[in-house]
Amino acid sequence: MIQRFSFGSMIPTDTVVRPLPVQAGPVPFLQGDAACWRYALAPGDVVYGLGETTRGINKRGWHYASHCSDDPSHTEDKQSLYGAHNFFVVSGEKTFGVFLDYGGRVEYDIGYTDTDLLTVAPAEPDYDLYILTGSSAADICAQLRALVGRSYIPPKWAFGFGQSRWGYKTEADVRAVAKGYRENDLPLDMIYMDIDYMDGFADFTVDAERFPDLAGLAAEMKQQGIRLVPIIDAGIKQKADDPTCREGLEKGYFCKKADGEPFVGAVWPGKAYFADFLRPEVRRWFGHKYKVLRDQGIEGFWNDMNEPAIFYSEEGLAQAFEKLDQLKGKNLDLYDYFSMKDAVLGLSNSAADYASFYHEVNGQPVRHDRIHNLYGYNMTRAAGEAFDELRPGKRTLMFSRASCIGAHRYGGIWLGDNCAWWSHLLQNIRQIPGVQMCGFLFTGADLGGFGCDTTPDLVLRWTEFGIFTPLMRNHAALGTRDQELYRFDKQLPALRNMLELRYALLPYIYSEYMKAALHDGLYMRPLAFDYPADAAARQVEDQLLVGESIMVAPVYTQNATGRYVYLPEPMKLLRLRSVEDYDEEILPAGHHYVPCALDEVLLFIRPGHIVPVGKPAQSVDALDAAAPLTLWSYLPDGSGEYLLYTDDGETTDYDRPEHWQTLRVDAQ
Ligand code: GLC
Repeated sequence: MIQRFSFGSMIPTDTVVRPLPVQAGPVPFLQGDAACWRYALAPGDVVYGLGETTRGINKRGWHYASHCSDDPSHTEDKQSLYGAHNFFVVSGEKTFGVFLDYGGRVEYDIGYTDTDLLTVAPAEPDYDLYILTGSSAADICAQLRALVGRSYIPPKWAFGFGQSRWGYKTEADVRAVAKGYRENDLPLDMIYMDIDYMDGFADFTVDAERFPDLAGLAAEMKQQGIRLVPIIDAGIKQKADDPTCREGLEKGYFCKKADGEPFVGAVWPGKAYFADFLRPEVRRWFGHKYKVLRDQGIEGFWNDMNEPAIFYSEEGLAQAFEKLDQLKGKNLDLYDYFSMKDAVLGLSNSAADYASFYHEVNGQPVRHDRIHNLYGYNMTRAAGEAFDELRPGKRTLMFSRASCIGAHRYGGIWLGDNCAWWSHLLQNIRQIPGVQMCGFLFTGADLGGFGCDTTPDLVLRWTEFGIFTPLMRNHAALGTRDQELYRFDKQLPALRNMLELRYALLPYIYSEYMKAALHDGLYMRPLAFDYPADAAARQVEDQLLVGESIMVAPVYTQNATGRYVYLPEPMKLLRLRSVEDYDEEILPAGHHYVPCALDEVLLFIRPGHIVPVGKPAQSVDALDAAAPLTLWSYLPDGSGEYLLYTDDGETTDYDRPEHWQTLRVDAQ
């Protein structure tokens, strides 16, 4: 059951797709009022959700903020990352969900100030509050999705493996990556193009010298089963002869300051304008711009810097220089020194800048900070709405950095600028359930780590986990150690086996993803979602259920040759070195130490379940749909069934019954 309560005068978010009648109070479970809600946590209560945040699967013991943040330092002290996901479930003495439909900042204190108190404080008392109850946490999540709409489904090839790097500067660089993969028999479906392909980092342009024939390159790559996936940034380069800039200015489509002049902030392209994505006509205009690249054979995109990231504004810079001028020549004492540093460091993504420009919502000006969290969502929506118009009935790959609930209908998200740290592999495992709960099924982190230099063992362990995440992409920052998989000679056979395992598992991964998307389920989730009565399962922070049949327990510690695993019920362990080479054993319920060498993957099959496995190929398009499937299974009574989903992988005609097929194993 979902109850809706309305407070103040809400700025529309377009997040809810099935409007419910507003209820009169009192609000169940929570005490307080629209300014701040409180809930007294019982000792055993677990709090799940809040999407893309730091720390544990259980969010208790920290304070968080819903505030889309361009912050490349994902350390434990952070309150917010790129997404703003206002949904959580309290599971314990009482089990219920809370969803805030609101585009401004929200502060969550989940047992931080007082270990047994949860508080929710939105910046303004103008929003809709939904209280969800159901038979379980999973049921509550399903109800939320019915309220906010079906999750985005990418084309099937997007479930292949992708290689990315900020720094592929020429066509030759892209060809070298394709060659590195193909010559080493490493499956690959996508090469991502970062800002380097653009002319001066301007959206919808291609550098004519470094990429003289993008259409030709895209066609050549496609012949090898590889799609090119370019980045699109939120900031539109300020440049008189740039068509996007010129048109946006002519039509008045950019966010404006109080004096009516367009707001200017600097990002990768230098000074830039910011399209007012909250206006439908601006979304349509920007969304149709993707056609410039589509027409050159591009079938997928990633949207970046759309919190929006603002390195500095003219106004901010002027103030900083003023401060520096005041301090110039002075013998700086401690406080002067810090204020000088703060004047410069505080330029980026500043609250003052976010409070200095306006959107237009239903003809009325709305200051940006009041709806900050809707910005990235509406950029992705611009793309999604345009793709539906430009290619009706067809899917386009789209994922974004910033998001809030609602964006899950138009694209996936990647988890932003992590580092090549073991702790970030663990963080990746812990972040996935939260974002899945908020509808972002197509998700994954930069495998191997984005910032800092990676190590071969970290790439291997992270790839082993990445096999199971819907978005499987290796991405690295400019200037970091090369981390394309073919760079690691010694680990190459193991890395090849891991990629082949991913491709062999695609009949399962795709079926389970589609079940989650079509039936409002969670493709990846905490153990306790399926074993709510199991007190030990509620504590598990480093194992996940993947679809209906599989549990994963990745190794995320350097030099570890195994790990402890908790089994809520007996399971069959496959210790996989490759699709063909594995040992299997039945483990009883309970705690186990499970060895796992660097070149192995632990895959646990739940009792009564089946995992359909195909033959790997170099790309998703090259998979042999007619080849017989192997069924990995753990069927204590000898029989079982699996519901397999298959379709053409590119149209949106999901709901046809012929996509479903029951595979049966019987005791005979
Ligand atoms: C941002 C993105 C990152 C990208 C970089 C350059 O930091 O998060 O993925 O590589 O910008 O475009």
